[in-house]
Amino acid sequence: MSTETVLKLANVKAGYGDTQVLNDISFSVAKGERLAIIGRNGVGKSTLLNTLMGLTDMHSGSIALHGQAVEALPAHKRAARGLGLVPQTRDIFTSLTVEENLLAGTKKKSSIEEAYTLFPRLKERRGNSGDQLSGGEQQMLSIARTLMGNPDVVMLDEPFEGLAPVICEMLMEVFEKLADGDHTIVLVEQHTELALEFSDRMLILDNGEIVFHGQTSEVRDNPEILERYIGLGMA
Ligand SMILES: Nc1ncnc2c1ncn2[C@@H]1O[C@H](COP(=O)(O)OP(=O)(O)O)[C@@H](O)[C@H]1O
Ligand SMILES: [Mg+2]
Repeated sequence: MSTETVLKLANVKAGYGDTQVLNDISFSVAKGERLAIIGRNGVGKSTLLNTLMGLTDMHSGSIALHGQAVEALPAHKRAARGLGLVPQTRDIFTSLTVEENLLAGTKKKSSIEEAYTLFPRLKERRGNSGDQLSGGEQQMLSIARTLMGNPDVVMLDEPFEGLAPVICEMLMEVFEKLADGDHTIVLVEQHTELALEFSDRMLILDNGEIVFHGQTSEVRDNPEILERYIGLGMA
């Protein structure tokens, strides 16, 4: 892994309106790294990814992407600079077909074939509308839509939530491929065991703050860290 920093947050405070959710978040992510962010429900994991993408109110602090300040930029400009978010809500257009979903917001028809290579199931379902897809297929489409923007930093917000184990394994293989292909991955997870399996480094969030930051191997060797900060052991 290179030591080139792709993402750097310093003293980020963010939230919704007058409500501050994140308090003084600072960390950086190196090119090609696999960072997992874990923590209990409601501690601010989605707010953190949404803030990186420019979808919440930033109260103070700085966010640099490839060394350039982006905290004042709207989401589409951050996307144009290589940041991609697969939101927890799996944003797809339910009334559009799979192919129309992929084409929405992009001019690069060539990327569609790449999406179908990564997700052959979507090619089979290309003429089906979003609301005819299974939960797993909707998640594949949501991921493929994000990849159409050609991001080099891919942020995944609980991508396995509510999906069958066989789909989770298939998605995990896709994330492995992306990471091996030089993408930087930020994975938010409730499934601690999947985060431990996938990541190089881990952040644990609690109440809008980083309470642990270290190598994933350290957490694997000392599972009491999870007990201490999240109150659950390894599943
Ligand atoms: N759109 C919103 N408006 C106001 N408060 C919100 C909004 N989204 C989340 N929150 C609040 O922010 C806090 C953190 O939520 P969230 O980032 O979704 O946590 P997590 O992803 O870790 O479960 C919670 O208290 C939640 O109620
Ligand atoms: Mg969340």
